Amino acid sequence: MTPIANTFALPAFCRRLVEIESADHLRALLPELAGEPLLKVGAGSNLVFITDWPGTVLHSAISDITFLPDGTVRAGSGVVMDHLAALTAERGLWGLENLSGIPGEVGASAVQNVGAYGVEAADRIVSVEAVDLVTSETRSFSVDECGYGYRDSIFKHSPAKERYFITHVTYRLSSEPSPVLSYPALRDAFEGKMPQSPEEVRSTIIAIRDSKLPSPDEVPSAGSFFKNPVVDAAAFERVVALHPDIRVPRYPLADGSVKIPAAFLIEQCGWKGYDNGRVAVWHKQPLVLTNPCRQASGADVLDLETRIIASVAARYGITLSPEAEHIDASC
Ligand code: EPU
Repeated sequence: MTPIANTFALPAFCRRLVEIESADHLRALLPELAGEPLLKVGAGSNLVFITDWPGTVLHSAISDITFLPDGTVRAGSGVVMDHLAALTAERGLWGLENLSGIPGEVGASAVQNVGAYGVEAADRIVSVEAVDLVTSETRSFSVDECGYGYRDSIFKHSPAKERYFITHVTYRLSSEPSPVLSYPALRDAFEGKMPQSPEEVRSTIIAIRDSKLPSPDEVPSAGSFFKNPVVDAAAFERVVALHPDIRVPRYPLADGSVKIPAAFLIEQCGWKGYDNGRVAVWHKQPLVLTNPCRQASGADVLDLETRIIASVAARYGITLSPEAEHIDASC
């Protein structure tokens, strides 16, 4: 059995792990993969392994990066997002600087529409190329065809989930200054001044990330473990009524619904800083569950997740959904 790398440091093994070097390499492998349970992984920065994987794991090692004359950049699905953000910022190109520090890879970030500090991958993606595992042909999806939503795309759901292996993603960049400073801490950091370069925004983003999130190299986690719930106005008012003395943080949406930071709900239920010696709730950002001593099993994580969901549901009537993808071959 081969270990599967994951930033949560959960024990996970598979029968076989293949590093995919190119679309042609994958095409050549398809006959021998027929009938095999396949799992596609990126850097494993958003995965929660509940069980091992009984079949083959495919990881993209496609790492070419091409700057195109039309102002876009085409990156292989195995490129780390932060590397791409660094490279584009270094060239003075705007677009990906707010996604600095994201440990995931380009392919996975196009699947789950990663987002941070006011920018989502979908805001910058022009197209996504994938090998169709049924026909072996390469297919290009325009951004509209990807069906992007909050941490969502067609690639997260059947049939596209099983059918396509992403090989490249093309992003729109700009040489004209186009900073996105909508995230309050970012806006505050620039105190009304215009950032002079994408590198300046990048370094500020990295400082903000470091102040809130555990370092992926030091404290194992899967980043945000839960999605921020979107509730209707009545449900939001019920949360407000429970906190007459605090301004409940909110992101009102165009359709009248409200996104509430799950971090707030989890903290109010008393979980911030919780640690049972195996799995913990990050003391600066309770949306992140951690595996501080690298001792946790998938079952430990599932147990804590279930208890957090139950306590938030009992107090607020809101059911949190995990953001990190659970891998459970027994399901
Ligand atoms: N909050 C608390 N207590 C805390 C921390 C936060 O109540 O201890 C409340 C505050 O009101 C704060 C609000 O939660 O204003 C939002 O917190 P934060 O800005 O840290 O962001 P988030 O909504 O918790 C999302 C993403 C992150 C992304 C940040 C910044 C999701 C699931 N998570 O978190 O993404 O970095 O915004 O844009 O949408 C990830 O996906 O892995 C990830 C880290």
